[in-house]
Amino acid sequence: MQALTQFFENNKTWVKEITDKTPDFFKQLSEKQSPEYLWIGCSDSRVPANQIVNLLPGEIFVHRNIANLVVHTDLNCLSVIQYAVDVLKVRHIIVCGHYGCGGIKAALEKKEHGLIDNWLRHIKDIYRCHQQEIEALRDDEEKFRLLCEKNVIEQVANVCHTTIVQKAWKAGQEVIVHGWIYSVDDGLLKDLDVCISGLEQIQLIHHLNL
Ligand code: CO
Repeated sequence: MQALTQFFENNKTWVKEITDKTPDFFKQLSEKQSPEYLWIGCSDSRVPANQIVNLLPGEIFVHRNIANLVVHTDLNCLSVIQYAVDVLKVRHIIVCGHYGCGGIKAALEKKEHGLIDNWLRHIKDIYRCHQQEIEALRDDEEKFRLLCEKNVIEQVANVCHTTIVQKAWKAGQEVIVHGWIYSVDDGLLKDLDVCISGLEQIQLIHHLNL
């Protein structure tokens, strides 16, 4: 209980820090949110969206799940994307993975983990798609890192394959999807240079006549 009491103290300190700088900060935010960015990241406690990119409340719309997956039957993630694109009109969608991801590591193992194994199977599918390239590496740590990167790239594609993003593009709305990876070792972000901003950049099989 002591720790939780501390949270309320922390909260008051945090509010004071913000309102000392901008007295009507919360009043302004209470009126509306208009973030320009949607962040899709891992639930990992070491990868907090706002802090990593040093943004304040109101600046970034966030969805996090284990291993930052965008699964085309996941109503939760799709709803977040739809709201962000259709209503908030975010210009940038950032898929941010991280090295040392426990979800990716678990997917590389044979061990059973319970219910979550069904979620991790999506990562095993990505492994299978890139098996040759991954297995050409000798070092297990390098394989792990490569799969963390491949996972981000696949999720960027998954965002672009949604009807939500394709409809927005068709309507002339600018939506740019980025793939980044974060290093928990040093706190630094790396751009994987897989930015997608239009239908012509995705595979033909996923082009929809909307
Ligand atoms: Co993770």
